Amino acid sequence: MKIAILPGDGIGPEIVSQAVKVLNALGETFEMETAPVGGAGYEAKGHPLPEETLALAKAADAVLFGAVGDWKYDTLERPLRPEQAILGLRKNLGLFGNLRPAILYPELAGASTLKPEVVSGLDILIVRELTGDIYFGQPRGVRECPDGPFKGQREGFDTMRYAEGEIRRIAHVAFQAAQKRGKRLTSVDKANVLETFQFWKDIVTDVHREYPDVALDHMYVDNAAMQLVRAPKKFDVIVTGNMFGDILSDAAAMLTGSIGMLPSASLDANNKGLYEPSHGSAPDIAGKGIANPLATILSAAMMLRYSLNRAEQADRIESAVKKVLAQGLRTPDIYQEGTTKVGTAQMGDAVVAAL
Ligand code: IPM
Ligand code: MG
Repeated sequence: MKIAILPGDGIGPEIVSQAVKVLNALGETFEMETAPVGGAGYEAKGHPLPEETLALAKAADAVLFGAVGDWKYDTLERPLRPEQAILGLRKNLGLFGNLRPAILYPELAGASTLKPEVVSGLDILIVRELTGDIYFGQPRGVRECPDGPFKGQREGFDTMRYAEGEIRRIAHVAFQAAQKRGKRLTSVDKANVLETFQFWKDIVTDVHREYPDVALDHMYVDNAAMQLVRAPKKFDVIVTGNMFGDILSDAAAMLTGSIGMLPSASLDANNKGLYEPSHGSAPDIAGKGIANPLATILSAAMMLRYSLNRAEQADRIESAVKKVLAQGLRTPDIYQEGTTKVGTAQMGDAVVAAL
């Protein structure tokens, strides 16, 4: 089994090395090869997604990814910015199915900004379409405004679009995920305003005919944002487009106390995948040894389950994470009085010990 290790920028290298440590402690041999990506790719090879890095990711059975981005690259032209690395990997590897589970560990109920009774026992899954929508739609750019009261001025524009097959395949991923869980799926759209999402709603409704055992409902994205903070436990699986999924998954992450706890999987049609924490590169705390490595460690567990066919090893890692939380170990993002504050490497070591 070959794993491409792409640590990236900011806290990326610190958290990825903890996940690698955990993988190495499982007692199996994984072939791992590391390559630069994001700002690190730009520094090393002049491009956020160097050819060699993309080739490695394509050749590997799975990709373990840290995070990319740093304010210092914000002035680069868009194709050279670190974010293009993750967008390019998703597009080039065909990783259209993004799974973002939001689970609240009982020990962290007090770490959420929401009342414990609202979030305790939370276990929801966001299925985000990852290679379409306004993120990739063409045309886009800055042009001369062709009409209306601002005609002749410069205008920025993007294109929101979804092809039928694109909606169908993510709907199947979501219905199948729901079948393995609580059998309820909420499709989030903006059908009251957008043609793209009226179409989305119609196609998801059509795919539903193949999954009569799953209860489907539809919700506008603004209402979904409200329900996520009002009564998040009412959701089981949420399926939505790329942009709405980006926004809602950050909101869902915070329900669990810290975005530092949330793993993710991005899968192609054959379950080859890229695994990354749902959070970003957090340049403000990079190099301080205080970042929470658990989202990345849990992403490695998802990798074992979905791409490497090692469900038992995934279970072991997830149990080990629960154990260190039960022991009271906390990185600063989830620290509360009465618990023990630890750094990134100590947290990684504790997971290894718990294994
Ligand atoms: C995410 C991130 C990315 C996205 C950025 C870094 C391009 O926010 O994975 O949610 O918008 O998809
Ligand atoms: Mg995001």
